[in-house]
This record gives sequence, structure tokens and C-alpha cells, in this order.
Amino acid sequence: MSATEQPVTPLERDQVRSVGTAHPRVDGPLKVTGRAAYAVEHREAPYDAQPLHAWLVQSTVARGRVLAVDAAQALAHPGVVAVLDHTSAPRLAEPDGDDERDRELEVLQDDRIDFRGQVVAVVLAESSEAAREAAGLVEVAYDDQPHEAAFEATDDTYEPETVNPAMPARTEEGDVDGALAGAAVVVDATYETALEHNNPLEPHAAIAHWDGEVLTLADSTQGVHPVAQTLAPLLGLEQSQLHVVAPYVGGGFGSKGVPHAPEMAVALAALAAPGRAVRLAVTRQQMFALTGYRTPTRSHFRLGADADGRLVAIEHEVLEPTSRWKEFGEQTAAPTRMMYAARNRRTGHRLVPLDVAVPSWMRAPGEMPGMFAHEVAMDELAVACGLDPVELRIRNEPDVDPETGKPFSRRGLVDCLRRGAERFGWAGRPAEPRATPDGDWWVGTGVAAATYPAMLNAGNEARISAADGGHYDVAIGAVDIGTGARTVLQQIAADALGVDASCIRLRIADTDLPVATVAGGSSGTASWGAAIVATAQRFRADHGDSPDAGVWTQAEATDAQSEDHALHSFGATFAEVRVHRWTGEVRLPRLLGVYSVGRVVNPLTARSQLLGGLVMGLSAGLFEESFRDPRTGHVVTQDLATYHVASHADVRDLQVEWLNEEDPHASPVGGRGIGEIGIVGTAASIANAAFHATGTRVRSIPVTADRFLG
Ligand code: MOS
Repeated sequence: MSATEQPVTPLERDQVRSVGTAHPRVDGPLKVTGRAAYAVEHREAPYDAQPLHAWLVQSTVARGRVLAVDAAQALAHPGVVAVLDHTSAPRLAEPDGDDERDRELEVLQDDRIDFRGQVVAVVLAESSEAAREAAGLVEVAYDDQPHEAAFEATDDTYEPETVNPAMPARTEEGDVDGALAGAAVVVDATYETALEHNNPLEPHAAIAHWDGEVLTLADSTQGVHPVAQTLAPLLGLEQSQLHVVAPYVGGGFGSKGVPHAPEMAVALAALAAPGRAVRLAVTRQQMFALTGYRTPTRSHFRLGADADGRLVAIEHEVLEPTSRWKEFGEQTAAPTRMMYAARNRRTGHRLVPLDVAVPSWMRAPGEMPGMFAHEVAMDELAVACGLDPVELRIRNEPDVDPETGKPFSRRGLVDCLRRGAERFGWAGRPAEPRATPDGDWWVGTGVAAATYPAMLNAGNEARISAADGGHYDVAIGAVDIGTGARTVLQQIAADALGVDASCIRLRIADTDLPVATVAGGSSGTASWGAAIVATAQRFRADHGDSPDAGVWTQAEATDAQSEDHALHSFGATFAEVRVHRWTGEVRLPRLLGVYSVGRVVNPLTARSQLLGGLVMGLSAGLFEESFRDPRTGHVVTQDLATYHVASHADVRDLQVEWLNEEDPHASPVGGRGIGEIGIVGTAASIANAAFHATGTRVRSIPVTADRFLG
């Protein structure tokens, strides 16, 4: 069936009844009672109660060739059914024409090793324990070749054409060098962010079944249709032959935004074992090799300003690694293009290709590392100009978007800064650093701005059917990765249809339902919501408000987002930091984020998203850092003991608030997305507060105790 294209009208204020209310999370009871089935917990047909268990065998060299896989001992272990390697795994389809296959998904297709931890074999056994034991018995012989895994500029450093997702790598406007030469004040410094790994509570996992016609996959993913769209052609299947579901997902943060090698591994294993369900639970350790990560970044900033702190030039040159065998360029300088006014501006990215796993998405790729650098540089400029850092930012507000010249639909930054300053108690803050001792602690406060684009993905469809008793079935393939999508889409559907939320029966997260784009880029509510609102408008036009049971409409929204406006969310984060005089220990007693995000659909789930962003931001600011040993290419921090994610004791008084807004230009729902902005700028506010406390400027994260000693 095909969808009607429906020009969509934004939800009017008088239509909004459920939207904006604190509707409790609809799947809360199922989740807290343990009844929500996560990927490998599926037990109904065709995922049977006695699946085969898959275990991944990973390369112990960073570059080279597999000479031989000796599975004899593994196969002799009780319960082991098969060991797949590059000589025995099912073959992927040949690509169409000149298309290149995604190397990351070419699992077990040849003997080439591109990075340490690559999948070199898959063991299938009747129990998880047998599979794991046997994986350790597989003997792999390698031709071990020299590799590069240290992040340093090399002769191979290059400028890509684009950075994630498809932005130009370089922009230039005006005469940057001339303006810097004539500037009254210049900040010239380099800022670094750490290699980080996504650690959603639920590791990556999938259970697959091949019946000879259809491959079914219960996957822990941020997008069921994107998984089918990506994997089906590689597997030589029609999309209708790849049925993907993901009803409950324990977080993703971008790592589940695109399919990675484990999904392909379990799909191939299922094809090799027709009629059996195959279950793959990726371990926490394996996630540090196989499911993407935030690449480290090095940002060289030059800010030039007049004596009043008004920027005349902004230069942001980024150096960051990528993998040698698949390019991913983090768009670290992207926010620098639109954030502050300046007539002269240059941004660029250069990549260092390494023999490492390919970087990927991690909450606010680009904005998070880029705004750390920009906002610490702005703090340094405020100090250099003798200006309050809130005032400095207000002075550099642009009239229109510096990147596109379009008016902002809403530029809420100044309101966020003013409201945050008031609530945080910013007035009276000592201008000088190292001014507030408290016993053995230095106390300081810092501020940073945040921004994130309002993305609305085209190509979403929804289906609405009238049911008995005034109920409506609303279907869309969207995935709720823990954000609250299931709840807010029900609220949006209710208001779009003009009924109570209890009249909506929502179905999501299944490729049998109308096509939906990824739960990523903070785009979900806007994109899926647009499809639901458009479909409801079409439905009401065709069938009225007292429809006969059984009538239905399927539609896709058009004209859902203004092309005449720059569409961005903004925020301001305020931090109080205490640094121990003798040990350098850093504590964060208070963190406040104030956001301009358009209309908030559900204050409960929104607050949770923004708080989660703050926690992830403070975690990046103070703790998270993966260490890849350049001698082996191995990420040695590969558990939650050596890779510290903020825990309860690290998180003290966190407050979030948002401005009362609606933004019909950004989406028919009126909101601009809230999944990522909470992490942006948070680490910078902490580094800036640590400077204010101690007088020590830390230009890289995580901000650890050793920075304040000696
Ligand atoms: Mo998120 S990094 O946009 O999936």
C-alpha cells in the first residue's frame, strides 16, 4: 500500500490537550516489573525457547591476514554446533554497479584484518556457556602486519570532502587572518576531547531466525527500518524478507543508530542454521571494539575580538582520527559555523586514518566535542577581556544565522543565559579566579552555552485506522529506545485526532508497520510526530470525526519544516565545582541547565532526557575516557570499572528547566528535539568552573585530579 503525501499543518495551541501534560510513561509498569522483552528475551515463535547461542571470536592483531582458523578443539566441546569463519560463512551479495559495500558490515567475507577486535569467527552452541568456552578454544593464525593506532598527525592526514552526516568539511568567510592580526584580543589555544565509548545499559543484542523465506531479527536498535534497509541488500534479500522488531531497547545514544558488525554476524549465523533461532548477546567488553565510539578530537581555536569582547574572527581547525578502511569524520566544527556573530570565520576538519575500529555516533556527535572547545575558548576570551562570561555571550549574539543568513525560528540563548544566571545565583560571582576557598576546597562557578539543530527527517509514514468504541489504531515503525517515544507519540496522535490519549492504541518498532527513520539526531518526536499529525489530518478530512470502524489512512507529511528559517535549540549550563587543594579531587555539587527547545510534549519524559544529557555531559567532563594501547590497537578500558560512567555518588544537585515556547517552523509538533542538547556544553561549564575555582585552565576532558597538582 502506498502513502498519500499530505501537507501538514502544525498543531494549533487550542488543539493541544494531551501534549504538554505529564502523561506517565506508558511502558513504565512493564519495564519495572521485568515483563518488557528486550532483544534476546524474545521467546515467542519464531524465536524459540531453545535458541542457538552465538559467541564472537575477535582478532588479536590490529592489521594483517587470517592465515587459518582451527576450530577442531572448539567443535569437540560439548554443545558446540558450528564455527563460522571467512571460509565458511554465507556470502554477501555482490554490490550493485560501482557501489562499495560497507566494510564494517563485510563480516567473515575475507581474510583481511583492519582493526583489533574484528570478528574473525562465530561459534554456535546449544548454550551460551558452551559458546563462550568454545570461542576461547578457536585457534586463529595471523599474518600480523604493522599498524598505526596512535592519534598523532601523520603523513596520511587528509582533509575529507564531507563530515558527518554530509556537511562540507571546510568553510571560509571573510579575511580571518587579517582580522586576527588587527584584533585587540586574541585567544589561541588547542582543546581536546577524549576517546569515548557508548555504554547503554542494555548491550547490543539480537536474536535471528531464517525460515528459508524470511529472516526475522529482534534487535536492540534505534531503527528497525534502517536495519532492514541496510542489511537486506547485503544479504541478497528483498526488504520484505527481513522482518525487524525492537519493541524495547535499553538505550542507544547513537551506538545502535546504524547496524554494526554484530547484527551482520547474527544474521549470517541464522542463514547458516536454517530453522533455528540464533541469539547473540554482545558483551560489555566487546562493545569497546565493535559498536562504534566517539573519536577523540583536537580543536585549534583562534578567537579575535575587539576590546569590548565583540568577536571579529573565529577560526576552528579540527584534527581527529578516522579508520583507514571506512571514513567517519566527526562534524566537530559544525556548531562553530552558526553559534556566534563574527564577520570572518574559518572552520575545517582533517582526519588521521588509523588501523582502528570505525568511529560512529555518540550523543551529539559534533556538537558535544566542538562546543566543549568553543565554550572554553569563550571563557578564556571573557577572562582576557575582563568581561562576565554571560555578558560576553550576549554581546556576540547574531541577528541572523551566520551560516545560512536565514532568521532563526527562535534564538533562545540569551533568555536561557539570563534565566539560568538568575536561578543559579550568578550575580555577585567573584570576577577573579581562585577567590573562594572553603576549608581544603577551592570553589568556583562556570557557564557554557549549548546548541543543537532541529532535525526533521523526511520519509516517515503513519497509518491510522478507526477501531470500535471510538478507539484508533496508530502505527509507525518508530523505536522507543527509552526516550519516551511510545508515550509522546500517543499524546501527539490523541491531539491530532481530537480524542483522549486513552483512545489511542499505538503500535511501533516493527518493519511490518509504516516506514520510520532512526531514533537519532534528536529527530524522532518531530519526524514521527509529523507523519502522525499529517496522517490524522488526512484521516479526518477523508473520514470525519465519527469514522466507521475499519476505515484507515496512510500518509507521509510534506512541508513539515520551514526552509526559510534556521532551526536550532539552545541552552545554558551553569556548574559549581569544588577542587580539593591537596588532592585535586573534583566535585560537582550543582549543575543547572536551562533550555530553549520549542514545545515540550511531555514534561516528565523531557525532563528525564535533559537530565540524562546533563549526566552524560558531566560524565564526559569528569570521567569517561577510553584508552587504546597504540602498541596493540586494543582498547584496554573495556568494562565499567576501568571506564567510569558517572554513578549516583557523582551526581548531586541537578536541575533542568525549559522556556515556555512553541516552534511551528521546526515541526508540526512544535518542538525542536531534546535528546542531545543536554550533553552539549555541559563539560565546558565544568572546566570553566574548575578554572574559576583554581585558576588552572584545563583545555581537555575529562577534567581529572592530576590537572590541579604540581
Ligand atoms: Mo544519536 S548520536 O543522534 O543516535
